[in-house]
Parts: sequence; structure tokens; C-alpha cells
Amino acid sequence: MAEAAVKLAHVEICLTREAAGVSKANREEIARTVEHALRTQLDMVHPETKVSLSCLTLAPDVANCIRDIVVDCEESCPCWNAQFVTHVFALHEEGSYDETTEDDPTSTVFTHWELPAQQFHGLWESLEYEAGIKPHLLEFASTSLLFSSRQVDHNLISWNHVVLLHGPPGTGKTSLCQAMAQKLSVRLSSTFARAELLEVNSHSLFSKWFSESGKLVSKLFSYIHELAEDEETLVCILIDEVESLAAARSASMNGSEPSDSIRVVNSLLTQLDRLKSRKNVIVLTTSNITEAIDVAFVDRADIRQYIGLPVESVRRSILRSCIVELQRAGVVAQDELSAEAESALDDCARATHGLSGRGLRKLPFQAHARFIRSTNPASLVGFLRAIHDAARAEAASSVAASAATSTAPVSAA
Ligand SMILES: Nc1ncnc2c1ncn2[C@@H]1O[C@H](COP(=O)(O)OP(=O)(O)OP(=O)(O)O)[C@@H](O)[C@H]1O
Ligand SMILES: [Mg+2]
Repeated sequence: MAEAAVKLAHVEICLTREAAGVSKANREEIARTVEHALRTQLDMVHPETKVSLSCLTLAPDVANCIRDIVVDCEESCPCWNAQFVTHVFALHEEGSYDETTEDDPTSTVFTHWELPAQQFHGLWESLEYEAGIKPHLLEFASTSLLFSSRQVDHNLISWNHVVLLHGPPGTGKTSLCQAMAQKLSVRLSSTFARAELLEVNSHSLFSKWFSESGKLVSKLFSYIHELAEDEETLVCILIDEVESLAAARSASMNGSEPSDSIRVVNSLLTQLDRLKSRKNVIVLTTSNITEAIDVAFVDRADIRQYIGLPVESVRRSILRSCIVELQRAGVVAQDELSAEAESALDDCARATHGLSGRGLRKLPFQAHARFIRSTNPASLVGFLRAIHDAARAEAASSVAASAATSTAPVSAA
């Protein structure tokens, strides 16, 4: 009989704040101990699973250093058949800082995070998509960095280190970029000792004062190059709502902002091209108006991933995760997921057709405020019914809102 192929399983061990400063040798010891415990004490590993520390018997000095452990593999597999790749990391808790323009301290050009950041911990696992989307994105980013580190010739193989996520509002594009940067910082920590995320504010860069924008783009990219000089630092750049680039170009076409805006767009594209030679830079971009993205920009994206509205099974998983959180918080009783509750959850998933992930994550709050209104924990089935009612109320109010918009008198321009 043919032997089953060994499956790769990433083990991400997050250290407690107190253990953040432990030596490299100690981290290696923690990794070895956890890996041994997983192999000897667990039967199976599953995709994106938080391993409960109470399920593992670890020496107290190791257990005390660990905040949580997440195991991830493409598909469930027995532990004896898994090849563990272990990552030990500590979170940065300082939060972000904003870089503003010189003449307007309220206008943020970019926000800077050191990764892995406390704020993004667990974000990747909280985002639900159809199978394959997240691993595919991660593989893409890793391949891009691998080709660079192996110095593959850009004249023979073309890639730009640019990812574009596009799709309707509220489908998690920005969160997915942040989560991907965080994941890369953890998974690639043996290559990159440090990781940074720069979230560029496209609006302040492209839509305010075009004459200033040229300077801002240069300033931004000289900062990026400065960071990227250190090849042990992974630099992730998030350019959100990249359609504002196209807006800049069309403003120029209309003659309202003649040459400045086109110069800004061109300078940004040139700067992006220059980043190609860097081994440690990845550019993550998003847009919710796909048609409006600058063509020259779209051409530079190595991968264009459509992030659509969640399908029924994904809506079910998102709502399920909301319920688990409310059970943890004591807002919903810790009832078993009985057949009746399963079927109520199915009803909710069906009734929420057309809602984005953002809309779904708002529903439990609306359900509680409108239909539960009690400080006592609601029963699980009762709460699911309230979610179902909230979904119907939402659908009715958006139909009413769009009818009102279509019948409203058109105001004079
Ligand atoms: N597929 C999903 N699974 C789980 N949560 C989701 C999903 N999609 C969106 N969310 C949640 O909705 C919220 C909004 O997501 P986010 O801002 O990343 O969306 P977006 O696509 O960038 O929206 P926009 O196009 O308006 O900028 C986040 O809290 C996110 O966790
Ligand atoms: Mg967004």
C-alpha cells in the first residue's frame, strides 16, 4: 500500500508579554517541547485550529511562556503524518503611529505598525472565505518573496510583488491585507527578524492637493526604501482604495488638475517598479470599484483576487463565530448546538443572502438591541431567531431606503 504523503502543518506559538524577551535558545526549546507534545498527545491536526492549552501537558516553565497556539494545515491529518513547521513569536503592543503631512497634522499619509501586532492577532482566523482563497493568497506572497530571495531574473520572469484584492464593500479586503501581513511576519520570521506594515492613506496622497502629492509620494517611498535597506525587515505596504489613483488621472483628463495629478500617478507607478528589486517588500492593495482602477496599476498586480459576498456556508460560519463570542461573553447561554439550533442557524444563513461580512457581524448587535433587550443570557435558539428577525428587518429597511432614493426628487446640480 502506498504511504500517505506527509502534510505540512504550521504551529504558531504566541508568547506571553512576560516571555517576549526570552532568548533564541529558549524559543527553540519551547518550539521543540510543543512539537513533541502535539505529536504525542494529539491525534489529529485541523486547518486553522486554536489548540487549547488545557489539552496539552507541558512543563510549567514552558506553559507559563505561552499565550496561545494555533495549528494550520491545508486539510485535517493525523499528527504522526504531519511535518510541523514551528514559529515562536511575541506580539508588539505599542499600537500604530501616524505620519502626517507637514502643513496639516490632521492629514495622515500613512499609518505604521510593527508586526506581529497585538491588534491583528487572530484576525486571519476570524476571516471566513470559501476554501482555498486564504492559502492561495499566502502562497502567492511567499512565492513572490522566495523568487526575490533566489534572485530570479526580472527580465526573464515577471513579477511585481503586488497583490490586488477587489470586490464589494465590507467583504474583508482591508482586514485580509492586514491579516496577511501579520501572517507573513509570523511564518517568515526565520527569514525576516522584523516586519513592518505601512498603511497608506490613498485619499490624502492623491485627492487633496496634487501639487503637494508629488512630494508626499517621494517622501513615502524614500521612507519605504530606508526601511527596506535592512534586508532582515519585511516591509508590507497596504494601499487601500487604490481607485483614488484612477480618480487622480481622470481629474487630470478633465483638465481640473492638469499635469500635477498625472505626474503623481506616474511617479507612484515608477516607485512601485523600483520596489521590484527589493527582496523584502510586498505591496497589498484593495479596491471596491473594480472598473475604476487605473489600468496601468492593474497591469502591475501579479494577482487580482476577487473577494465577493459570502456564500451561504460562509455566512453560516461567520454567524457561528459571532455566537461563540457571545457565549464566551455570557450574552448567549452556553447551550449545546442541538438539532433545533443547527436548523435555526441554517435559517439565519439562508435569510442573510446578499449581506457582506461586515453586515453579518453587525447583525447580532441589532438582534440583541431590537429583540432580546435583556441583561440575562438569551437561549441559543432564542438568539438565533432574533438574528433571523433582525436579518429580515434589515432587508426590509434597505428595500425601503432604496425605494425612497429612487423616488426622491433630483436636486439641481
Ligand atoms: N469574509 C469575512 N469573514 C469574517 N469577517 C468579515 C468578512 N468580511 C468582512 N468581515 C468583517 O467586516 C468588517 C469590515 O471588513 P473590511 O473593512 O476589511 O472590509 P472591506 O472589504 O475592506 O470594506 P470596504 O470595501 O468598505 O473598505 C471587519 O470587521 C471584518 O472582520
Ligand atoms: Mg477596505
